[in-house]
Amino acid sequence: MMSDYFDLVKRRESCRNFDPERIVEKEKLTRCAEAAWLAPSACNGQPWKYLIVTNPELAAQLRPMMQELGMNKFLNACNAFAVVVQEATVLKVSASQRLKDQDFAPIDIGFSASQFCYAAAEQGLSTCVIGWHNELKIRELFGLTKTERVRLVLAVGYAKTDKLRTKQRKPIEDVVKYYE
Ligand SMILES: Cc1cc2nc3c(=O)[nH]c(=O)nc-3n(C[C@H](O)[C@H](O)[C@H](O)COP(=O)(O)O)c2cc1C
Repeated sequence: MMSDYFDLVKRRESCRNFDPERIVEKEKLTRCAEAAWLAPSACNGQPWKYLIVTNPELAAQLRPMMQELGMNKFLNACNAFAVVVQEATVLKVSASQRLKDQDFAPIDIGFSASQFCYAAAEQGLSTCVIGWHNELKIRELFGLTKTERVRLVLAVGYAKTDKLRTKQRKPIEDVVKYYE
């Protein structure tokens, strides 16, 4: 039986055809932020902050910081962004990750940003995760400190079309192994 969740997983795809005319409702962004806030994290450290940008002037300043070398031109049609900031690791997390030789914070950020994106998809919104961004410039724009890392920006909006692409993935046999 196909669950609603699996439908959602199939429906979420990176949007590069945002409709510039459709403005994202504040309540929907709030739901996305709540989903991100409730994500799991190592030692419940919650090393994230979300800066939600809908202010047109600020969005206009932010956009080119994700478009260097001619990349991500499609963002010109996107009017809402969530800047995902990784905060400095708290003591209990840094102790356990040192013992386990792991860096949990980017993993936590991935979980949380993913929950944001699926909450968006569930509400009929589309997203694109942006890793191609100028961290230093964004940090400066928001007055962030050196210990606050800008890991991702999530572009949020309505897609111009509902038509989904075929997912391009490695063969599942190559990435999933069963030991029965
Ligand atoms: C960490 C991360 C960074 C990404 N950065 C960009 C980006 O800067 N620009 C872009 O168009 N897509 C970006 N993507 C989207 C990926 O290209 C996309 O997820 C992948 O090709 C799979 O396609 P799908 O999301 O449509 O299923 C990024 C995705 C992740 C997870």
